[in-house]
Amino acid sequence: MTEKTMKKYYIKTFGCQMNAADSDMFSEYLISCGYLPTDTPDNADIVIINTCSVRQHAEERAFTEIGDMKHYKAANPNGKVIVVGCMAENLGDEIKKKYQQVDLVIGAKNTQNFPEIMTQSGIIQKGIAAAVAKNDNKISSHITIMRGCNNFCSYCIVPYVRGPEQSKPVDEILKEITDLTERGIKEISLLGQNVNSYFSNNVDFADLLAKVSEIKNIKRIRFMTNHPKDVSDKLLKSISTLNKVCHHIHLPLQSGSDKILELMNRKYTFENYYQLVRKIRYYISEISITSDIMTGFPTETDKDHKATIEAINKIGFDFTYVFKYSPRSKTEAFKLKDDVTKEKKEKWHKELLDLCNSIAKERNTKLIGTLSEVLVESSADTPEINDDKKEFFGKGRDNRGIVFRSAKNLIGQSINVKITQAKIHSLIGEVEN
Ligand code: 5AD
Ligand code: SF4
Repeated sequence: MTEKTMKKYYIKTFGCQMNAADSDMFSEYLISCGYLPTDTPDNADIVIINTCSVRQHAEERAFTEIGDMKHYKAANPNGKVIVVGCMAENLGDEIKKKYQQVDLVIGAKNTQNFPEIMTQSGIIQKGIAAAVAKNDNKISSHITIMRGCNNFCSYCIVPYVRGPEQSKPVDEILKEITDLTERGIKEISLLGQNVNSYFSNNVDFADLLAKVSEIKNIKRIRFMTNHPKDVSDKLLKSISTLNKVCHHIHLPLQSGSDKILELMNRKYTFENYYQLVRKIRYYISEISITSDIMTGFPTETDKDHKATIEAINKIGFDFTYVFKYSPRSKTEAFKLKDDVTKEKKEKWHKELLDLCNSIAKERNTKLIGTLSEVLVESSADTPEINDDKKEFFGKGRDNRGIVFRSAKNLIGQSINVKITQAKIHSLIGEVEN
């Protein structure tokens, strides 16, 4: 079979890293069934839209994509359109009723059964031989170690669409990672809505980190995301003593106002959070701490907003995502009036984003002149620069992205890079000889 005659698939992914990990799994499966990836739906035999429900904006974008598939279906009547993920779970077959171009809907609680569902539905014929071996030169990969969430933060739809927390058995995780190392993976990110509450067969998250550390060819371990209430001393000790575990923790704060934190059902006060950050920095001084902040939650006042500004200044996050509150039906907060005006949300969002970005840049700037141990992930040609070097990209142990130039192919290697310039989202450096 030539590349031209082989069947193709296209995946569009919205939302978090868990969705990205699911899309990777769909990809793997389709490749093992003899399909090739393509970067446009136009010539695809299967189109997958992996959706997110966390904010209305993400849903709207997915709806636009699904709507556009009408043209795809008209041009490819035999093509299959599959909608998966959180929105698929939330709205179910309603999507199929509303959009006739959709052939199959697979909710977030079922994504791990994707291969069986694809054969049961007849879209994939059973018994197709594994045609191509995957060789994508990837250095870093992520795996989902737990699904669902029990926390019920009042604004969040995840516990409803992904269901209760379920930890994947340890042996399964270790096997998956070992298999990935055989394909050249050196860095693994362990994913879950709240990895700190991982528990399976008497193994907690700190124990799991120790077990993954024992896998020889894994050089680096990352993990996300964390709930401040579940970060234990045992975990901090593991991060500080296990060499392979990277010094980065994503620790969503959401708000600096205790009144809002309580309404959000976050189960901590700002003081609790602040003391946790102090403890983390005491155990692991060079750790980077990143966060999520939400603005415009029901009943939020200028005073609450000011408390968030003070909190951000006091902590000094290395990077922060800032979101505008988006009411989600089914959640507790949906019962509260969405009483912060659109204009106010915009204004607060801009203020917080500007503040967080300036702090991130300031913290990055302090690193100029220091060395970072970078695991090199990818390279890009830079035809506009006339030398024999390529641009390389990798990450430091603190999760900061670093770009540098080299004539030698360094992909997969761990090298020291001297930081020469700082941006908000990344650093620029030079290879240290
Ligand atoms: N509106 C806005 N942001 C939300 N998040 C979760 N639910 C909502 C919502 N309804 C944000 C939180 C969370 C991140 C993944 O998304 O900040 O930490
Ligand atoms: Fe949503 Fe809270 Fe669970 Fe995170 S911890 S997924 S914000 S309910």
